[in-house]
Order: sequence, then C-alpha cells, then structure tokens
Amino acid sequence: MKLIPLLIAFVLFVSCNENRVQTASTPTPEITEKEIIAPIADSAMVVSARAEASRIGTEILKMGGNAFDAMIATEMALAVSFPYAGNLGGGGFMVYRTQFGEIGALDYREKAPLAATEKMFLDENGNYLSEKSKSGALAVGVPGTIAGIFAVHEKFGSLPMEIILKPVIELAKNGYIITEQQAQRFEKFRPQFIEVNKGNSIYTETYKAGDTLKNIALAKTLELIVQNGRFEFYGGETGEKLVEFIKLKGGIFTLEDLEAYEAKWREPIVFNYKDLKVISMPPPSSGGICLAQILKMVEPYPLSEYGHNSEKYIQVLAEAERRAYADRSFYLGDPDFVSIPIDSLLSGAYLSERMSSFSFDAATSSSTVKPGVINGYESPQTTHYSIVDAFGNAVSATTTLNSEYGSKLYVNDLGFFLNNEMDDFSAKPGVPNVYGLVGGKANAIAPQKRMLSSMTPTIVEKDGKLWMVVGTPGGSTIITSVAQTILNVYEFEMNMQQAVDVARFHHQWLPDVLRYESERFPRELITSLEKKGYPENTESDPIIGKVDAIRILPNGTLEGGADSRGDDTAVGY
Ligand code: DON
Repeated sequence: MKLIPLLIAFVLFVSCNENRVQTASTPTPEITEKEIIAPIADSAMVVSARAEASRIGTEILKMGGNAFDAMIATEMALAVSFPYAGNLGGGGFMVYRTQFGEIGALDYREKAPLAATEKMFLDENGNYLSEKSKSGALAVGVPGTIAGIFAVHEKFGSLPMEIILKPVIELAKNGYIITEQQAQRFEKFRPQFIEVNKGNSIYTETYKAGDTLKNIALAKTLELIVQNGRFEFYGGETGEKLVEFIKLKGGIFTLEDLEAYEAKWREPIVFNYKDLKVISMPPPSSGGICLAQILKMVEPYPLSEYGHNSEKYIQVLAEAERRAYADRSFYLGDPDFVSIPIDSLLSGAYLSERMSSFSFDAATSSSTVKPGVINGYESPQTTHYSIVDAFGNAVSATTTLNSEYGSKLYVNDLGFFLNNEMDDFSAKPGVPNVYGLVGGKANAIAPQKRMLSSMTPTIVEKDGKLWMVVGTPGGSTIITSVAQTILNVYEFEMNMQQAVDVARFHHQWLPDVLRYESERFPRELITSLEKKGYPENTESDPIIGKVDAIRILPNGTLEGGADSRGDDTAVGY
C-alpha cells in the first residue's frame, strides 16, 4: 500500500511553512513540573533520542513521505548518531496505525543462531557463565533491523529507499555533534570497547562534547544497502563480512542464519482502558500483555482522586505491576515456540481475581504471588521514537542492541555495533543474568527462537481517533513507564511533556522492592510505604525509562513529549 504519491510529496515539500522546531525544555529546580511546556506542531512530528534523528525523520515527512518512510529514516539516523542503542546490528518492534485506522505490529527482534543450544551459556557443571551472554560474539543474536526497515518499506513505503536514506548517509559522512551525555558514555565504555575488540576504532578515540563524529564505514554500508537492498545485509558483501567477523571473534552465526532471518508482521495486543483503546506489542515482547494486565488491574480504582505519585496510587500500581510481572516470567516467550494463554491472561475475571488479595493496609508479599521467574535491572540502553505524519499515520517503534552498545563488538569495516540480545533469554531456569533477569522454560534458548522482550511500542485511540503514540527504553521498566505515561495524561491531566518528565517508580514482583527515581520522591512517602511492606530498592535508579511520545489534541495539533532525562528532541512542523 502506498499512502501518498511522490508528486504530492514534492508539492508539499515546496509549499511547507517554516519549520516549527521546538525542543523539550530541560526541567531545572526552578521550573515546576506543571510549568513544563510541551512542544507543539500543526501537522507532523518525530520525537526521538537525538535531535538529528528527529530532524531527518521530519525532513522526510516534509518531503511528503509518510510516517513509515520517516520510521526508516529515523531508525537509521539513530544508528548513526545514537550508537548506544540505535543500530544495524540489533532489532526492535514497531506498532502502527494508519490514517485509515488499520493497525498492526512488526517484529524485527533478533533470533538465536541455528547453532544455539539451550545450555550454551552453562559450563560442564551447569554453572551459568553470565559474561558470555552479555559481551563478545556468543552474545550476539541474528540482527533484525535491516529486515525490519525493508519489511516496512515494502508494505507502506512511499518514497524510494535512496531518497529516504540520503540524509542519513550524509549524516554519517559529515558527522554529528557529540552531546555532553554522549561524550561521557564514550569515555565510560572506551575501556570495554578496547578490551572486547582488541583494537581501535572511531569509538576508542577520545571525544568531548561539541566534537564532530563521522562514520564513513557506516555511510558506505548504507550506500551498499541502498544499492543492493535487503540482500546486501542478509547475503551480500555486508552479510559475508559480518559472518566472517563473527567467526573470527568466536561466534556461531553463519550466512545460513542471515539468509533465514525474516521480520514478522504480528497482530497487536488490543485492549480498552476506560474509553481508551490501547494498541501495543504482542509476544515475543511481553510489553503489550503486561501493559494490558497492569492497566486493567488498576482500572477500577479512582486513581485521579488518589493523586499523582500519592501513596495510594503507588500502592495500587505497584501491586498490579507485581502480579503482571509474575505472570510474565512464567508464561511468556516466543509465540513461534511456546503457546501463550493470552486470552486467559487478559480476561477481566482473571485480573480482578488477581487483585482480590490486595489491601491498602499492607503490601502483598511477592512470595505469596504465583512463584515464577524474576525480571531484573536494566537502564535505558534501548531507544524509542514516535512519529505522526500529516496524513494521520502513526508509528511507534522501539529498537535496541540490549546493553549499552550491545555486545561492545564493533564491526570496524561496516561501521556498527552488534547486539548482546542472547542475554534476554533465560540461560538457566531460576538463575538471574547480569541484570537480575531469570526466566523459565518458555524463554529458554533454542535455535531460531526470539528472546523475550519488554519493549512496549504503543498507540492509543480515544473516541476512535488517534490520541497518543508512546514508548521508551528501560528494560523491564519499559512497561511500567509506558503505563505511567498514559495514566499521567489520562488520569492526572498532564500535557505530553509533563507526562514524560515527571518522576517514575517501578515494581516487578521480584525482587520484592519498589524502585524510585533518585531523590524525586519525598522521603516521608518512601518511609511510609516501607512501613506497609514496600521496601525501597537499595540501589537507587538514576532514571527510570526515557519516554518519547506524541499526543494528538482535539484540534488535531500534535503535542510532543521528549524526555528531558536524555538528549531527546521533538521536531515537527
Ligand atoms: O528487549 C528487551 O526487553 C531488552 N533487550 C531491552 C533492553 C533495554 O531496554 C535496555 N535499556 N534499557
């Protein structure tokens, strides 16, 4: 389906008004959360982790490209300018809603190589070798991102790939300006880049904020992809080089793995929260199911009366989260490999029964909630972007390398990092990985299987119309951050920017602790909750999630929320 002819594209491009670009304001102690102004655009908007990516996505929209063309450009621009999580060597998920109200989801998650085995990260005594699943070549899942963008292009693209990727290739060639946050991260991870790669690359050089970083190798890879299409990555020169590199580094995926990789269109998880219709990512992400469970479990409670981040609100939400995460650990995995009782997990009767053990007097101990498997700590190394075009198409996409710069393995010749997504499998039942993640049989490693994810790209309708596009990085905290963002707008009447910026908390069943963003919650509140049986996490979370969202106001204007926790930026016109 082509959503807009090329001709109109160029007419629009020429006739467009001056770009109304606004970036998210950074809250300082002087600015109260209520005063944060949301960036507004009349027609179209991209909100992502980097100004360059949001600008390039918007540039494609201004040319008359649709949200899907902009998705491809934004995804690749993040691969250039946000190598922390943006990628060619990783994977992701996208949820969409077209201007005609059609909805769908794309799974471009990485897969376990054909030679993977259930016990590949265990030694001969059955001990978990956690390091092997998180850095170096064995940690790498077969990448899905390039298959993802081509699947999107084939189904919805309206501009040629050449046009879509032109500004991205220019960005890689001409370079982008390194931000303060980015300079700090390069500095922090340089020793690991050197150790894992045993050699130098553009990422082992020293940078300070304001420097320009060019990635000529990546520009060349993208040029070849434009020339030769999807095949270039999954069988052409790039694929061959990638496989050679993996072999050299002791990995196990082969050209056969690349050739076998397919992105998959899937039916989204759809549910109602009051008069909202929420459309979110199905398995192999746990995002949609857990989001549905949480919101359905809190729906009967008068949250707005309790007040935002009030004790009662935190209790109700934390208890719903606890129960949803217990189910997640036990039931969820790749739907191509395990059967998931989605209808039962989302049934009203089941969910109200789940909450029947909750009382405001005291926490329900996680030990009394269904035994299962733990999810653990992750920080925002993934990245999410939200797009709405002038035609009314919406794209919500979350993409990742898993950890910061993935496995840290950098393919010098090709210009990109490789994921460490194999760590999202449960390598050994009951034993946590480096993030505290523990899984069950449903998420055990098997050849060609996709590892369970928490990524929750989501679109919300209100009164049958597009209302919000939302998502975030944050590992297991992704789901609860998305839930809180929706509730912040719907129940607490915040604008989009406030809704993404206000403080967040998180509970995930096990460990049985409440996690708060450091120093953003009053000490008395934390102490009072502790007395009721909600221990505070001993390690503080500097940030929880990094939400990038768009709300569509009743007059059709777009209101951006670009999380001020990062360099995130809303750009629109
Ligand atoms: O798919 C997942 O759930 C994880 N690989 C996401 C990792 C992530 O969000 C890291 N950043 N916080």
